[in-house]
Amino acid sequence: MSLKYESFKTTVLMKKANNHLLVIFGASGDLTRRKLIPALFDLYNKKLLPASFAVLGASRTPFTDEEFRHSMQAFLPSGDTGSFSSLLHYLPFDPEKEEDYQHLHHRIEALDRQYEAAGNVIFYLSTPPSLYEVIPARLHHIGLTHSDKGFRRLVIEKPFGTNYETARRLNVNLLNYFDEEQLYRIDHYLGKETVQNMLVTRFSNTIFEPLWNRNYIHHVEVTSAETLGIEGRGGYYDQSGALRDMIQNHLLQLTGFIAMEPPAVMGATAIRNEILKVFQALRPLREAEIGEMAVRGQYLASVIKGEKVAGYREEKGVNPASRTETYAALRFYIDNWRWAGVPFYLRTGKRLPARVTEIVVHFRQAPHQLFSSIEGYQPVGNQLVIRIQPDEGILLKMGMKQPGAGFHVNTVNMDFHYSDLDGIVLPSAYERLLLDAMQGDATLFSRGDAVEEAWKFVQPLLDAWEHEPRIPVYGYPAGTWGPQAADDLPGESAWRYPCKNLTDDGNYCEL
Ligand code: BG6
Repeated sequence: MSLKYESFKTTVLMKKANNHLLVIFGASGDLTRRKLIPALFDLYNKKLLPASFAVLGASRTPFTDEEFRHSMQAFLPSGDTGSFSSLLHYLPFDPEKEEDYQHLHHRIEALDRQYEAAGNVIFYLSTPPSLYEVIPARLHHIGLTHSDKGFRRLVIEKPFGTNYETARRLNVNLLNYFDEEQLYRIDHYLGKETVQNMLVTRFSNTIFEPLWNRNYIHHVEVTSAETLGIEGRGGYYDQSGALRDMIQNHLLQLTGFIAMEPPAVMGATAIRNEILKVFQALRPLREAEIGEMAVRGQYLASVIKGEKVAGYREEKGVNPASRTETYAALRFYIDNWRWAGVPFYLRTGKRLPARVTEIVVHFRQAPHQLFSSIEGYQPVGNQLVIRIQPDEGILLKMGMKQPGAGFHVNTVNMDFHYSDLDGIVLPSAYERLLLDAMQGDATLFSRGDAVEEAWKFVQPLLDAWEHEPRIPVYGYPAGTWGPQAADDLPGESAWRYPCKNLTDDGNYCEL
């Protein structure tokens, strides 16, 4: 069964951002070529960039403008990219060298004149986190952070700290040089179209919100599964693990969208206030309960589709005796009026059987089981599945009479897939977030206080996993749904085993 959509506007009229320069630190790095430049190219093709705009890449590699343009070319679709490439400029830049900031200053002034950017600059930190303290301080020192001439903004990539203390210090430090309104902390999950659609699903329909609480919702699960391993990022990942890499940020932000109260107005402050309130209501994890509230695992060598896959401890850059989790599952509660007593389950892992991120809202069963005397009766569990990726869409499971004699109840799917919308290609998360930063809209960026609150919540778990060797790290063969112990976490309510296609259920998935 498919939902019919009456009309869908394919064009969205948007106000163009003011002319500005985008300075990318770490411009010769992976993120710039894989995500940022392609996203800018898409914005350029959709005519969403300002009337006059330029990129200044800055990093240690000694490129000329031409070499930088050439090196980015390979990451753009083939065809006429020349006019876009001409907007790309480059400055060899060592962030540790004082004099390089003078060169940067002069180059920004020259480009500002050339592009009539009116003093507007966005700085993008696409660098290792060790430079998050260095670059903002030096920019401030030479007067590049003041918004008096034009706007000055700083976009900053995760990780925002590695624990509560370092995140707090980072925030304090950044606020020495920029105001909170100038800071755009990227959580790329919030840039995903389907995550934003959660706000529309909840707050533009009258049919969900009245049920969206402890009276009608039994529990909520959020799964973010990946088929990939750590893809050569052993050095980073072994110091991080799934809890820091995915749960503290992406999955808690999703939880914020699922659980927040309706904001009074549409705007960054109102929405981010509501997310903060959710995080403030997270019931603190107590050390004594951690064994029953959380499960961690690590993938083991295995054979997937006839191919040998290395175990985590054999990956490059990983300590052969590592206890870092590549899988984490967690049960927690939000202690407020709306969610009192409703368990939330989060799980994420590398080398699982499918790449899928989804939220499953499990509704309570009907209070009176009218059809229970009928042979073969299975109570219906209404579920609303919000599919973040892939096969983005929404699915509602409901009971339906089996045609014919009697009153046999079957569960059917009512589903909507974004792919059903003709001619609509979902924008990438970076495209959306870059555009928002250009327009000065911080709604989909994490605010400092919420980031700290999220760290505060996971900190007891980080500590217990680090210091308590008796808490097991379960092995799971690569290509399976994680450790057995995680299956027991939701008790009688089993996890949904999602597949590549939103509507496919069951225990077996395409790899
Ligand atoms: C990143 C993590 O933030 O998100 C990666 O560091 C992870 O480890 C990635 O693979 C997942 O993002 P996506 O958009 O592919 O679900």
